[in-house]
Amino acid sequence: MSGDRRLAVVTGASAGIGLAFAEFLAERGFDLAIVARREERLLELAARLGNAHGVDVIPITLDLSDRSAPERLLERIEAAGRHVDVLVNNAGYAIPTRFTDTDWEAIEDFLEVLAIGQVDLMRRVLPGMRERDYGRILNIASLAAFAPENAGGLYGAVKRFMVSASRAISKEHRGSNVHVTAVCPGYTRTEFHDVLGNRRQIDRLPRLMWQEVGAVVNEGWSACERNKAVVITGMNNKFLRIVCTVVPARLIMRVMPRSLRKTRAKAKD
Ligand SMILES: NC(=O)c1ccc[n+]([C@@H]2O[C@H](COP(=O)([O-])OP(=O)(O)OC[C@H]3O[C@@H](n4cnc5c(N)ncnc54)[C@H](OP(=O)(O)O)[C@@H]3O)[C@@H](O)[C@H]2O)c1
Repeated sequence: MSGDRRLAVVTGASAGIGLAFAEFLAERGFDLAIVARREERLLELAARLGNAHGVDVIPITLDLSDRSAPERLLERIEAAGRHVDVLVNNAGYAIPTRFTDTDWEAIEDFLEVLAIGQVDLMRRVLPGMRERDYGRILNIASLAAFAPENAGGLYGAVKRFMVSASRAISKEHRGSNVHVTAVCPGYTRTEFHDVLGNRRQIDRLPRLMWQEVGAVVNEGWSACERNKAVVITGMNNKFLRIVCTVVPARLIMRVMPRSLRKTRAKAKD
């Protein structure tokens, strides 16, 4: 029985930053609803965290590119007799192909997972959070929200939208105990670049450009507790954000490795 424990929903908990958030919150005594498509990983994680920390973990296998996913996710939580106290909108990926070479369905799925579904979830959980006077929402955006756009890539645009939406929604709840934060990591060691397919190029970046998931989670959670609307994690990333503000985009693009400037030319192998 969960007793007085709060429930945290973490999307994209089967890997990377989401998995680290699930571990971090379980260690701090939150019950969890963990969401992703890879069921086996979720079941293994639920058993591990439940045993290690004595918390309840509800594994929810869902494809968040489905328009009905937010509704179905919250139905599952309601059916378990729970409500959402913490929402970590984390699931995400980047499309490797150029805009004009990408099928509309792939673009639609991408917008659903990284923006529409996240806003939908926030809209559904915020009234209850206000009523109970406790809520924490962390939208995992990216340093890419502040960097010049890659040719033909929508990733920076979507992350910029989520940063701006987080700021606006956070302002609406100022003065309450409901906090909304856009967490903006830079390069972080996860499966993200394996999924994107640029692992070889990306591994050539200097080590100081990289953060570990634990650092992202710690800084993100602490910023949300302090009710910061936006946090860029890591000193190096904060510095890069300033560089992106003061240095013209075309100069930044000139010094950026070629492999990072462009998305791939073909839509499919
Ligand atoms: N790694 C970086 O360098 C970096 C930098 C800045 C921001 N970010 C952001 O951080 C967030 C987490 O990324 P990560 O680096 O941890 O990547 P990751 O290791 O590849 O993890 C991505 C997670 O998202 C889930 N996911 C992807 N598509 C999904 C879908 N359609 N339905 C449900 N779940 C889905 C994956 O689970 P399944 O495959 O099991 O569904 C996985 O759990 C993303 O929003 C990303 O944009 C990452």
